[in-house]
Amino acid sequence: MTNLLDGPADGRLDTHLDHHGRPPVLNAPQLVAQLRAAGLTGRGGAGFPTWRKVDAVLRAGGTPVVVANGAEGEPFSGKDRALLTYQPHLVLDGLQLAARALGARTAHLYTGPASADGVRAALTARRGTGLDPIPVTVTVAPDTFIAGEESAAVAAVSGRPAVPADKQRRITEAGVGGAPTLVQNVETLAQIALIARHGPDWFRSAGTPDEPGTFLATVSGAVVDPGVVEAGHGVRLGELIAAAGGPTAPLQAVLIGGYHGGWAPARRDLEISRAALAPLGASPGAGIVRALPANECGLVETARIAGYLAGEVAGQCGPCINGLPRLAGTMADLARQRARPGLPAEVARLAAMVTGRGACRHPDGTARMIISALRTFEADVAAHLAGRCLASASGGVRR
Ligand SMILES: Cc1cc2nc3c(=O)[nH]c(=O)nc-3n(C[C@H](O)[C@H](O)[C@H](O)COP(=O)(O)O)c2cc1C
Ligand code: SF4
Repeated sequence: MTNLLDGPADGRLDTHLDHHGRPPVLNAPQLVAQLRAAGLTGRGGAGFPTWRKVDAVLRAGGTPVVVANGAEGEPFSGKDRALLTYQPHLVLDGLQLAARALGARTAHLYTGPASADGVRAALTARRGTGLDPIPVTVTVAPDTFIAGEESAAVAAVSGRPAVPADKQRRITEAGVGGAPTLVQNVETLAQIALIARHGPDWFRSAGTPDEPGTFLATVSGAVVDPGVVEAGHGVRLGELIAAAGGPTAPLQAVLIGGYHGGWAPARRDLEISRAALAPLGASPGAGIVRALPANECGLVETARIAGYLAGEVAGQCGPCINGLPRLAGTMADLARQRARPGLPAEVARLAAMVTGRGACRHPDGTARMIISALRTFEADVAAHLAGRCLASASGGVRR
């Protein structure tokens, strides 16, 4: 099977073409039909059906713009950087496929700083080959958490600061320069390049009927060999941990989906799919799996992440300016074993207060991650309120 990481991992154009061949050219109805039949969903975190977004841009009319989003501001994620380093031509093929099908005249590749040189070298190698009929502009994303949010990406490639905008209109209707704009994660575009070559049935041969295809998972934390692995949706947690060399210590929980994801117990048979994780308040998101060993406190780690997220705001909306610092501060009190019985309820109240109130989903993602911690680390919450810590009881070092 030819998946995202199967090709030569040298980033070269000649070996890419030897392995994959030249990409086909699809018109808009063909592209929409293929993506719909394949059931491809966005790999940037939200999991939105890709065909719907492409269709919305088409329906908006005019000359659209396509943006490949490789900002990857999430600290636990490394898959977009890996893809842009090892398989940049799959991403560029997908970008051109989408841009040509939509009738775009400009395309953007928005990349994290670490991948920018490799992306530029890949574009140079493609010059004169006819592979890039639509000019691609490279923009380097700042190293911030919110820089990859889609309206922040649109602002950045337009030469403005990379902060989310209040969306009066959908980006699919009015994005870069007011034109209908398709923003897709770089992995989504690489999947498009493969679906166009091999077809929807091939894509559906991995994953589950409801969540087809493979995804890139970044597995880190208490594992022997942290890194990026490719697996079909529905893969068991135990298989992903094994692919990363196995655990370095007994595991108590995993953060799935990253800083905006959710905590779940580290059960080997935990299914990594949207459907299976939804009851736990988690989702595969952008494919992050962070393993927490039994001797580290989940509440301390949650408070650390919440503090980081509260600092990573554009300072434009009330929930971020006032709500997130209070939420992070209350979570920190809980982590520090401040014995105030009302603390968990206060965390839950503040989380509910910030949800749905921002111009972007940053407050919502932060609140969801914290609520999942209260549930997954329920026993730790009770212990902390009693002035004890279960992680330190199992030999961990506590602050
Ligand atoms: C705070 C925040 C940060 C985000 N960062 C990224 C990112 O770094 N890369 C990315 O592709 N999507 C990111 N997203 C999701 C994008 O807004 C958007 O949904 C995505 O780029 C669409 O592509 P997809 O449909 O292919 O996933 C972020 C969203 C939020 C709320
Ligand atoms: S919700 Fe927060 S991160 Fe999003 S635009 Fe508003 S201030 Fe910025």
